[in-house]
Amino acid sequence: MKIFSIRKASQDDAKIICDVTRKSIIRGCVKDHKHDESIKVDWLRNKTPENFRNWITTKDNLSLVAIDSAGKPVGFILAKMNKSKAELLLNYIEPEYVRQGVGYGMYNELEQALMRRGVDEITANSTITARDFYLRVGFTLISENTEPGDRQADILMGKFLGVAKLGG
Ligand SMILES: CC(C)(COP(=O)(O)OP(=O)(O)OC[C@H]1O[C@@H](n2cnc3c(N)ncnc32)[C@H](O)[C@@H]1OP(=O)(O)O)[C@@H](O)C(=O)NCCC(=O)NCCS
Repeated sequence: MKIFSIRKASQDDAKIICDVTRKSIIRGCVKDHKHDESIKVDWLRNKTPENFRNWITTKDNLSLVAIDSAGKPVGFILAKMNKSKAELLLNYIEPEYVRQGVGYGMYNELEQALMRRGVDEITANSTITARDFYLRVGFTLISENTEPGDRQADILMGKFLGVAKLGG
């Protein structure tokens, strides 16, 4: 396993995180877009450095990056908080780094940080690609409406986070 660390995202990460996310969608989410150009174009449309800068700095959003041993961001996760609830909006890892524990590490740190802020429930609208990852980190399926031929999967998942810790 490659060594990596996790820290809060900063707006200076926006450009590189945008590149990582775009690569992850194009090369890592083939089960979802099935190489359909128009699906890819729609999905990538709002994945711009400027939007990442805005998402990172938006109040009530919480985001983390995973950093490899050379100091390069290789993963990004972002949740939007609304009182005691959170929604996972982005969770993307550089294709060469998947299935090496980076996603688990980033999600776990995010979950702990959300709990410290009083969040007790998180939901995610999963890709087909990530469905089994979310099950593995403790999410359960709320609804799944994925018909053959659908342009986008509709896989709603959720997890109760238990009692929030004080402090932090
Ligand atoms: C989904 C994603 C974030 C998971 O990150 P990852 O670094 O590959 O996951 P990890 O290596 O930390 O895996 C954690 C556990 O989930 C399992 N897992 C991860 N991806 C899986 C998959 N596609 N199918 C089955 N199990 C999977 C791992 O085997 C591991 O289980 P273990 O603890 O028993 O070994 C990453 O694969 C990714 O970026 N995918 C493409 C983008 C995407 O679909 N993002 C989700 C948007 S909602």
